[in-house]
Amino acid sequence: MYKQLEQRGMSEPPVNVSTLKKMKDEHEPIACLTAYDASFALIVDRVGTDLVLVGDSLGMVIQGHDTTVPVTVDDIVYHTKVVARGLSRAFLVADMPFMSYSSPDQALDNAVRLMQEGGAMMVKLEGGAGQLAVVEHLAQHDIPVCAHIGLKPQSVHKIGGFKVQGRDPDTARRMVDDASALEAAGADILLVECVPNEVGKAVTNNITAPVIGIGAGPDVDGQILVLYDVLGITQGPLPRFVQNFMLESDSAMEACGRFVQAVRDRSYPSAEHCFS
Ligand code: KIV
Repeated sequence: MYKQLEQRGMSEPPVNVSTLKKMKDEHEPIACLTAYDASFALIVDRVGTDLVLVGDSLGMVIQGHDTTVPVTVDDIVYHTKVVARGLSRAFLVADMPFMSYSSPDQALDNAVRLMQEGGAMMVKLEGGAGQLAVVEHLAQHDIPVCAHIGLKPQSVHKIGGFKVQGRDPDTARRMVDDASALEAAGADILLVECVPNEVGKAVTNNITAPVIGIGAGPDVDGQILVLYDVLGITQGPLPRFVQNFMLESDSAMEACGRFVQAVRDRSYPSAEHCFS
């Protein structure tokens, strides 16, 4: 491992699940971004992003769809493969698209593709208690899993839009319980999207696995944003939690570096990016 690192001129070892766990335990914020191609992967890796997600958000920002629903396993395999070529240090996570994990065996087959063909080190799937059997099956096969709760964009047609989740006490409590159950089933990381600060905090304090937030307030273990939002490329109305880091930057590299720094020093997210 280290010989390879020396050959690649790297001073720091690659991030792995233990690194992320240690960062949670030591209260060091984890900086995460999405990426979809090798050039941007190289940039986000260079500025010290800890975790890079090949998100199914690529359906919206790359393919021009209104939702993430049309994204296929082949799409994610392709983008994961090209992102992997740009990374040296960051931990690479690939999204499992809509209906690619509707049974434990289907999930296993598709997760294997994302790891073997794409080069992913972890797969992410959306779902709470309903996905426990799938998470357990993947974990039994030593496939690292990130479970995505809160706003689940693949369920957009069922929930009627991209809305803040967990505002009522019952849903909030269920989300905290789901997070514990997912961790017990073998999830290594949780990702919580679009929830009030208090819910992000409760989930984070209730489990030992790192919790990455997007619109989940400041009291989570790490922050993730969609790269094209950070770079001000995405057009139209943007979610409240987005910050365009390009506004005060001269280059994409500088904007991504500012994002990583803002996560580390906890200046992002500020109150204007949060939900109550
Ligand atoms: O697909 C994606 O990019 C995501 C982010 C919203 C975290 O899941």
